Amino acid sequence: MTSLSRSGVFAGSMDDRLARFSESISFDHRLYKQDIRGSIAHAQMLSKQGVLTESEFQSIRSELTSIGEMLDRGEIPFRIELEDIHMHIEQALIDRLGDVGRKLHTARSRNDQIATDLRLWVRDQLERVDALLSELQKSFLSRCDRDASVVIPAYTHMQRAQPVLAPHYWLAYIEKLQRDRGRVSDCRARVNHCPLGGAAVAGTSIPIDREYTAKLLGFDAVASNSIDISSDRDFAVESVFVLTMIAEHLSGWAEEWILWSTTEFNFIKLPQKFCTGSSIMPQKVNPDTLELTRGKTARVIGALQTLLVLIKGLPLAYNRDLQEDKPPLFDAFDTVIAMLELAIPIVAESELNVASIRSRLDEGFLDATALMEACMLRGLAQRTAHHRVGALVALAKERGVKLADLSDEDFRSVDPDLDGSIRSVLSVDGAVASYRSYGSSNPVEIAKQIARWKMQLS
Ligand code: ARG
Repeated sequence: MTSLSRSGVFAGSMDDRLARFSESISFDHRLYKQDIRGSIAHAQMLSKQGVLTESEFQSIRSELTSIGEMLDRGEIPFRIELEDIHMHIEQALIDRLGDVGRKLHTARSRNDQIATDLRLWVRDQLERVDALLSELQKSFLSRCDRDASVVIPAYTHMQRAQPVLAPHYWLAYIEKLQRDRGRVSDCRARVNHCPLGGAAVAGTSIPIDREYTAKLLGFDAVASNSIDISSDRDFAVESVFVLTMIAEHLSGWAEEWILWSTTEFNFIKLPQKFCTGSSIMPQKVNPDTLELTRGKTARVIGALQTLLVLIKGLPLAYNRDLQEDKPPLFDAFDTVIAMLELAIPIVAESELNVASIRSRLDEGFLDATALMEACMLRGLAQRTAHHRVGALVALAKERGVKLADLSDEDFRSVDPDLDGSIRSVLSVDGAVASYRSYGSSNPVEIAKQIARWKMQLS
């Protein structure tokens, strides 16, 4: 069979090696639904414009629909001589309709066609990602009531820093995910421009109505420059950047919970159904889902890198290099979607080891900063208070006791104005109760934020 892209200018067929090298059907078959949707809209527009008759459009629509159903069932074999998904569908249409099928590609090129398919696909996937991000936020939120009164160390430099409420941690992740959702929505707005009708590069002399096609496909706007249209892959790079940030957030969370699930931390118990065993050490319950979440982040970053390098230095307009955008784009979406699908139940179903966390809250002088601030509230300058409390910590360390165990004389020995009453801020509960500022671990503040997110996510 002669290939649809080989015109009469060619005297012979393509070398087999090139056919294998240049095919994209092995991966772009995933775009068949979008391709069919785009083609039906294009044909409908052509018929409204009088370029196709109503009956030609009806035949095209019904055959394309049935080709789509056959593709759903895997009944159309893929052949590398047909290169890509566009030609497979068009050829199937021509096989059924003959010359009417040959009219579909009027005022269209595969250059604007692939740009359209890809935008429709990315738009659908971004919607899925946003729904999953919202589910993950809800998983964290569901923990807030369950872990409401659990006090847990916050770390800086991975050293014990100050005590916080566990929900403060969960709200931190909800904030990160909310920014991710903001990026998804910003990105979607730029994705949602319609390339169809840009044709190969210069537009067309056929009287098309691009606004109409754009509307049929749910695009917010028509892309304005036919040269830009077929070269633009900003939306692909941008969407993969958005995914990379999500993966980065999930990777950080995964790392944290891997540490928390160690015997050394013993802060959290992961659901066993998301853990794996060891083939040699019978006692092992390994956090592989979290490790793979961290590990697969590398390939999402790699996908972003691939796309950036791919478009670097491409002149206007369509260049075949752009065919290579699909494997990294698909892989980044598949990977991040799979990560989110697993993070949702893991976050919801893991259990904090409350007794274990509590039993070691006295270690690490988590209340030292609260004590320093209490001194400042009594008039000491920050640097002075910092120094004096540091001296008290050194004393307590030397004796192997907590700050609260130091005597009134000990307090007075570093500052004659200090007396035992300052002890009220000591202990982690005292420290947590002492926070005041917006965004802090103050229990009233945290309760307000939980209530706000409950409203926002319902
Ligand atoms: N398979 C191609 C791609 O993914 C479709 C566009 C091909 N255009 C062309 N003029 N050869 O980019």
